[in-house]
Amino acid sequence: MTTLKMTIDQTNRISKINKEIYGHFAEHLGRCIYGGIYVGEDSPIPNTRGIRNDVVEALKAIKLPVLRWPGGCFADTYHWQDGIGPKENRKKIVNIHWGGVTEDNSFGTHEFLDFCEQVGCEAYVAVNVGSGSVKEAAEWLEYMTSANESPMTELRKKNGREKPWKVKYVGIGNENWGCGGEMNADYYSNVYKQFHCFVRGAEQQIACGPNSNDANWTDTLMKNVGPWQMQGLSLHHYTVPTNQWHHKGDSVNFDEKEYYNTLSHTWFMERILKDQEGVMQRYDNDHRIGLVVDEWGIWTDVIEGTNPGFLYQQNTMRDAILASINLNLFNQHSARVKMANIAQMVNVLQAVILTEGEKMIKTPTYHVFDMYKDHMEAELVYSHCENKELMPQPEHRHPGQQVDHLPAISQSVSVDGEGKMHITISNASLDEDFEIDCLIPRAEYKTVSAKILTGKYNALNTFDDPDAVAPKAYDGVTLDCDSLKMKLPACSVLAVELC
Ligand code: AHR
Repeated sequence: MTTLKMTIDQTNRISKINKEIYGHFAEHLGRCIYGGIYVGEDSPIPNTRGIRNDVVEALKAIKLPVLRWPGGCFADTYHWQDGIGPKENRKKIVNIHWGGVTEDNSFGTHEFLDFCEQVGCEAYVAVNVGSGSVKEAAEWLEYMTSANESPMTELRKKNGREKPWKVKYVGIGNENWGCGGEMNADYYSNVYKQFHCFVRGAEQQIACGPNSNDANWTDTLMKNVGPWQMQGLSLHHYTVPTNQWHHKGDSVNFDEKEYYNTLSHTWFMERILKDQEGVMQRYDNDHRIGLVVDEWGIWTDVIEGTNPGFLYQQNTMRDAILASINLNLFNQHSARVKMANIAQMVNVLQAVILTEGEKMIKTPTYHVFDMYKDHMEAELVYSHCENKELMPQPEHRHPGQQVDHLPAISQSVSVDGEGKMHITISNASLDEDFEIDCLIPRAEYKTVSAKILTGKYNALNTFDDPDAVAPKAYDGVTLDCDSLKMKLPACSVLAVELC
């Protein structure tokens, strides 16, 4: 077994890992909201005011910190007043982006904020810039958050909610360079500032940021909009296995070559973070403006036979390794990355939960979030690990490959408020186990415990076999004073706690 040396410098505290890095995204798309989260009060599926109890419990268990809603592209078509008041009077609309299906607006503002309260997470609302108005957005925030007397707050009370809600984050539009209005960066900067002046009530305002690694968009926004006018700049980047949008690759039936190509594509996130941080640094040395990666994850072809507009895909060990790489990157870049939202929470893209009628399963990605949850609000500490390059040979690479490296090992380390150390580390190799020989100078930890998630690269959970991929207690980790030894099997994610 190859040994790789690792060092952790617990005295080198780099940045706080905002809990919001473990955030999620839920859009009115396919079966994310309807069926996935909301089934209605009359459903035989156990629910509280229409919201699935099993889903709420599963999300509470991973301490879901923040949820972004209602889109996505849907946000710039959404008129919030369609989704309040008695359900029978709510306007039915066509969901133009996602399958052209009828949206009956039975899940609206009250239901979303009720869901956040049931789960115990912060709300992140994206207002409609593309086809809405400043007035509409300003009134929505007033409706949700104001304690004063006004037509909007009276309307809220009439609809059954006396107290205002807390909405911590508001996003001003979504992908306004694309489905949110096809604007250029200068034009959007002006529109942003106009919304910024009037949309009050949230603690933080997030501006629409670049499509993937578009440095020009970021530069323009940073130049035109200052840190007092925005607290975050969003960024969207998806990992597409083949790098081709017309044939993205299957979510379950892929070979080892495609596995490695997918993971090498996901490492492009590191390049994006470094480049975007570089641009932001020029204007904001003090890290006042956060990079908010509010859509990320793997995007494959849909499961055969399902509506192509519903973006329903399965989730395997490949996705678990991919999630582990991205979450370790966000931790390592937490000086600038203040929030990240995996797309999407239930039944869409890299979902942590899949439902079928009354059945619900947790995907391998769910388990990675569970294993990483102790990093939330902890302090990132310096770590370095020797590595092995797994990049496929040129003849095995997909055309248009975005990065030219694929390290086997990805890791991040933090120390929490009680002084416990948490190490999350994954091995992307499919044929090589490693022993990680880790030195933690001056460590005084007494006990070690570990959990492992491992399986074949396309192992998955199904409704018939829901726990095929699940974390298990692991005894392949030993601690002797300042020396920690971790056996890391091929295709595995490991979470270690030192107390
Ligand atoms: O998550 C699916 C879609 O991807 C979102 O609606 C959009 O913002 C992005 O292009």
